[in-house]
Amino acid sequence: MALVTTKEMFAKALKEDYAVGAFNVNNMEIIQGIVDAAKVENAPLILQVSAGARKYARPAYLLKLVEAAIIDTGLDIALHLDHGEDFEICKKCVDDGFTSVMIDGSKYDFEENIALTKKVVEYAHAHGVTVEAELGKLAGIEDNIKVDARSATFTDPQEAAEFVGRTGVDSLAIAIGTSHGAYKFKGDPYLDFKRLKEIHRLIPETPLVLHGASTVLPEFVTKCNEYGGDIPGAQGVPESMIAESTKHGICKVNIDTDLRLAMTAEVRKYLKEHPADFDPRKYLGPARDAIMMMVQHKLKNVLKASGKR
Ligand code: G3H
Ligand code: 13P
Ligand code: ZN
Repeated sequence: MALVTTKEMFAKALKEDYAVGAFNVNNMEIIQGIVDAAKVENAPLILQVSAGARKYARPAYLLKLVEAAIIDTGLDIALHLDHGEDFEICKKCVDDGFTSVMIDGSKYDFEENIALTKKVVEYAHAHGVTVEAELGKLAGIEDNIKVDARSATFTDPQEAAEFVGRTGVDSLAIAIGTSHGAYKFKGDPYLDFKRLKEIHRLIPETPLVLHGASTVLPEFVTKCNEYGGDIPGAQGVPESMIAESTKHGICKVNIDTDLRLAMTAEVRKYLKEHPADFDPRKYLGPARDAIMMMVQHKLKNVLKASGKR
C-alpha cells in the first residue's frame, strides 16, 4: 500500500481494455466514499486534486487525507494534480509528494503547449512523477451550436502523435466531444469515435484520457430537483459511450460532476426531510454512502476496472 504513479496502472489498462477511474476530491467524505468503493471492487484508483480543491481544502489537508486513506484501506493510490495551469503548480505538487501531475497547456498554441509540457515532463520525470498533458479543447454546449464548429476544437490525430513524440508525456487528454459539468449536449450525445480510433492507431502505446466524462446519473438529478433547486437540461455522456471508449485507448476517465450530484442529492434530501436537524454527520454520512455506491457502479459496470488491482 503506497502512493504510486500511473505508469503500471495505465500499462495494464491499455492492454486489457478497461479504464482507471480518476475522481476529484475536495474533502474527507468524498475521499472515503471513493476509496471504500475501490477497495470493495478491488480496482486501481486515481484521486485527483484541482487548483480549486487545493484552495478550498488546503494542500496539506488533502495530502494527509489521501495518506490516511492508504493506511485505512491498504490500497495503492495515484495522487494526481488535475488541470495544472503552469509549471509552478506542477512543481509544487511534485515537491509535495504527488505521484502524477497534469499540465494543461490546451489554451496555448501547439508549439507553446509543447514547450510548457516538455518543461514539466523534465522536472516531473527527474522526480519519478508521471505527466498528463492536453491537446485540443473541451468545448461546452454554450460555446458552439453546430457539431462542425465544435469539432474544430477536437484533437488532431497527427498533432497528437507529434506532440507525444516531442514531449515524452506519459498520457494525453484528448478532445472528442466531452465537456466539463452537467450540461454536455443539447441534442443527441455525440463523441467522435472515428477520431479516437485514429489517435489510438497512431499512438497505440500512449494512454489516452477522457475529461468531462461524468454520465450525470438521472437518479441524482431527479433527487436534486425533487428536494430543492432545479437543474434542468442536465445531460451527461452515456455509459455505453464511456465503456466503448475504453476499447480504443482511453485508460483514464475523469469524474467530478457525478460526485457533486450524488453528494448534493443526499444532502438536499436529508435536510428537506429533517428540517430541524443540524448534525452535519446526519447528512454527510448518507452523502458519503451515495458516493460509494455510485463509484462502485462506475468501476464495475462502466469502466470494467473491478478486480484489476
Ligand atoms: O475539470 C474540472 C474539475 O471538475 C474540477 O473542478 O476546478 O471546480 O475544482 P474545480
Ligand atoms: P466532469 O465534469 O464530467 O465530471 O469532468 C471532470 C473532469 O474532467 C475533471 O478534470
Ligand atoms: Zn478535466
